[in-house]
This record gives sequence, structure tokens and C-alpha cells, in this order.
Amino acid sequence: MIKTNYLVIGSGVAGLTFSIKIAEEFPDKIITIVTKGNEDESNTKYAQGGVAVVLDNKEDSFHKHIEDTLIAGDGLCDKAVVELVITEGPQRLHELIHWGANFDVKSNGNFDLGKEGGHSEYRVVHHKDITGYEIERALVKRVNQLKNITVLTHHFAVDLITEHHLKLKKKRNLSCYGAYVLNQKTEEIITINAQNTILASGGIGSVYGHTTNPTIATGDGIAMAYRAKATIKDMEFVQFHPTAIYTSEYGSSFLISEAVRGFGAYLRDKKGNRFMPNYDTRAELASRDIVSQSIDKELKKSGDPHVYLDCTHLNTEDFIKHFPTIYQKCKSLQIDIAKDWIPVVPASHYLCGGIIVDENGSTSISNLFSCGETSRTGLHGANRLASNSLLEALVYAHNIFRFLSTQTAQFLPVEIPAWNDEGTKINQEHILIKHNLKELQSLMRNYVGIVRSNNRLRKAITKLHVIHKEVEELYKTSKKNTSLCELRNMVNVAHLIIHQSLERKENKGGYFNIDNVNHDLNCLTKR
Ligand code: FAD
Ligand code: SIN
Repeated sequence: MIKTNYLVIGSGVAGLTFSIKIAEEFPDKIITIVTKGNEDESNTKYAQGGVAVVLDNKEDSFHKHIEDTLIAGDGLCDKAVVELVITEGPQRLHELIHWGANFDVKSNGNFDLGKEGGHSEYRVVHHKDITGYEIERALVKRVNQLKNITVLTHHFAVDLITEHHLKLKKKRNLSCYGAYVLNQKTEEIITINAQNTILASGGIGSVYGHTTNPTIATGDGIAMAYRAKATIKDMEFVQFHPTAIYTSEYGSSFLISEAVRGFGAYLRDKKGNRFMPNYDTRAELASRDIVSQSIDKELKKSGDPHVYLDCTHLNTEDFIKHFPTIYQKCKSLQIDIAKDWIPVVPASHYLCGGIIVDENGSTSISNLFSCGETSRTGLHGANRLASNSLLEALVYAHNIFRFLSTQTAQFLPVEIPAWNDEGTKINQEHILIKHNLKELQSLMRNYVGIVRSNNRLRKAITKLHVIHKEVEELYKTSKKNTSLCELRNMVNVAHLIIHQSLERKENKGGYFNIDNVNHDLNCLTKR
């Protein structure tokens, strides 16, 4: 058994930021980060647009950023949280810079600020079109300099340890004691006992198969917390990014940043019509929910597989300077952005809901905290404003740090049993995991997509039930491996999305159900 003061699950911006802060403040405390895959593999690494922060732009103000966030969230944001996150932004950004992250500046030394959908001002700080890569690089470097942080790569958290695992005589309130963790190389499950556990395990994009997220985004943290009986909310608010490059295969899809539309690109149908002005006065720069729902409507009308993003009227040299990775990616697909339109389609991108946390990042389980995409803070409401996610992760990692700095922690006096895999054997039919995964992803795309209906959601429940039964049977009888655990987690996440969708009786932001009272698709027009 490993004993540690802080167990951090995930090595994206949220997990690494918390780890650095607590390790710097308390050199005598041990921080253990577990992460599946390599230390830098995360959604963070692929972030393109940047971090939304109000800085030295004279036109901008906290008030405007707060208003934009509230409007994007369609009435469901927690205003106090919005104010807290946005006003803390500049401090958190300066910490990142202090740790070595570089952001683009103009010749006058001021930040080169970008604009994205739903923002009324230029306020997105970025590093070309690879902002996340640069942030992750700087954070990993700093983590590796700190002697009291151990990073266990290729270690997969399987389950949180709570009272459910302990043989207690007296009933207690739920607490977290750490996690059972699979060494992905040896396939052995170890016990990590922690005074405090921080879940920073990112998003759920893979549940849909067609996603801008890397394949690691399987909602493990939310599923673990759900099984441990933490409170989970707003799972119906899956955000679809309007412009993932279209490919005939489903899978992880390359993103064309919203900053490209902020730079002046147009969305067109195949006849060349710019359709977004028909839906929203902000046209291509309407918030993401509106643009994705509008594209979905256009595609259903035309029967086409995608729409286009037109950059041909933009200055190519400037484009390459701002978006070198996007330019190269298009080139590699024989798309010359100076002459060709880019085929794009919405893809699952971000989860606005997740594990409920308070302003300190505390979940409903004692000693269990959460930050980043896994958590639901109340910042995003029904739809996240572009580039507010990295910001939220930075602020909440700090808030957990600040809170835990004031607490005296101890190991709770309980005996934790080792992982019990009695009666399980090595699964000889890996193909069953693959089949079920494909079925699950196709079910989520076809029945729980951008526009939903009660009929489809109910059918989804029936179909999911069959997958769930088969996966649970496999799980109970097999030695654990990564793909089986991920599949099980994705089934749990799908369950939460479908059921919480049916519970929502009003269309808001990223949630659209044709059976709801305010169902008229024309309500999209000129919002
Ligand atoms: P992640 O960065 O996803 O990190 C999660 C970590 O947890 C990973 O290391 C993962 O391996 C690990 N993990 C997961 N499950 C387990 C497990 N069971 N056991 C052990 N480890 C586990 N947001 C913005 O604000 N601005 C942008 O410009 C922007 N662009 C984006 C572009 C793309 C293509 C994508 C996909 C997202 C973008 N986002 C953007 C969203 C933003 O990047 C993410 O929401 C944010 O990075 C999430 O950070 P995180 O630390 O919560 O999770
Ligand atoms: C993008 O660059 O379009 C993604 C920004 C985000 O998800 O916030």
C-alpha cells in the first residue's frame, strides 16, 4: 500500500496546478499524481484557442466578461461563481507565466488577444494555436522540479475507496480514503491511501466516439464518484464544438479553433450561403450551443454530411502566423485554406456538468475534492463560454489548495482491504469490449446527440440496459484492464447523461429536446 498526503488523479491543467501549489507551499508533504498514459496526455494538451482573461485591454472589463459568461450559460450559471472565477483570472494567469508558460505578445509588448464565440471583446490569451500544449509543457516541467511530487504514469484509478469498501461496525458519513489503482503495465491493482484525494480526471468526449477529445476522455472520475455516491449534476449539458474537421470515420477529430471564426472565417453550406446570420445577430460568433444547433439544423435540412468553414478571404500570411498547426493539419489533408473551404461538422467537445463542488472544490464526500472538467462548479450553466475552461481549472485548483492549506489532515483510522479479484480470470474475448464500446458510442451519437427527443432518450435507456448488463458481467468475471474499466465508466456516464436529459423539461443552452415546451427550433433564430 502507498500512503500519501495528497492523491491527485489526473495530470492535466487542474491536477498539475493543484500539485505544484501544494508541493511548493508544503515541502514536507507527499503528493502522488496518478495518470493513465503519459504524464502530458490530457484534454489540456490539445487546447487551441486559449484562456479567457480580462487584462490590459482598455475596452474590456470584468463586468463584460461576467455578462458574456452569464449569457452563454443561458440563465443557469451561478453568478457568485462566475464573479469569483473571472475576477481571479489575472492572478492565476500570472502564476502560469511565472511557471514558464509563454503567451503571444504584440510588438508593443501587450498580449495578443483573440476573440471567440460569445465574447463581446478580444480577451483570449493564447500561444499560437497550441495554447494547451504550452501550458501542459510548463506545468509538467515545474512538477518534475519538485522533489515531493511523485508522478505514477500508466496508472489508472479504478475506484475511489470509501466506506463501501470497509467492513465497519458503525455507520459513518461518506469519506474518501484514496483509490484502488491499476498499474497498466503489470495489470496489478495497488491501494493508495490518502488523507485527501483530488479528482482532476477530465472530460467524457469518448462516450460519443466522434469528439475533439483524445481517447483518454472516458469520464472515469465522474463514473467513480457516481459509484461512490457523490452528487453529480448537469450531465445533459454536453457541449458540441461546431467545427471539428469532417472525416468519414468517427473517432477523435481535429479541431478548427473557434478563434479562426474570431479571426473572420465564415460558415457556409455547400452552395456557398452563409447561414449563421439567419440564426443569430452575432452570426459565426454566436455562442457554441447556437452555432452547433444551427449547423445540425442545416445538415438535417440538406442531408449533407458537413458544412464548410471558409478562410479564403483572410490574409494567408497572418493566418499562418496565428494558426500554424491548423494550417499544417489542413495542408496534410490536401486542404489549402487560401483556396479551399474546410469541411467541418460539430463533435462532442466538453462537459458542462459533472461532480458538484462548492467554492473550495469540496464534493459531497469528505476528503474528496474535484477540479477541472470533471467537476461542476456552476460557472458554465447550460453552455460554457469559449476559453473559460482552462480558467476554471486554474481557479478551482487554487481554491482547493487555499482551503487545504488551512486544514490539519490525518489518515483516518481504518483498515483498508487490498483489492479483491477472487473468482476473476483473464478475459479471452477482448472483442466483446470493442463491440460494446462501438455500440455505446453509436447509441450516444444517434439517440443522445445535439437535438434530443423523449422517444429517442427512452430507446437509449433500453439499449443501454443491454450493454450495461453485458459489461457488468464481464467486469465481475474478468481481471481488470484499462479498456474494460474505461468501458464500464463510459456506460455509467452515458446513463447519467440520458437520465438527467429526461429530467430537464426546458431547453437551455446546449440542451435541446424537441418534446420540451419551448421546443420550436425556430427559437434558435435571432436569439
Ligand atoms: P484533462 O486535461 O483532460 O486531464 C485529465 C487527466 O486525467 C489526464 O491526464 C488523464 O490521463 C487523467 N485521467 C483520466 N482518467 C484517469 C484515471 N482513471 N486514472 C488516472 N488518470 C486519469 N478550454 C479552454 O479554456 N480553452 C481552449 O482553447 C480549449 N480548447 C480545447 C481544444 C480541444 C481540442 C479540447 C479537447 C478541449 C479544449 N478546451 C479548451 C477544454 C479544456 O482543454 C479542458 O476542459 C481542460 O483542459 C480540462 O483540464 P483537466 O485538467 O480538467 O482535464
Ligand atoms: C477552441 O479553440 O475553439 C476551443 C476553445 C474552448 O473549448 O474553449
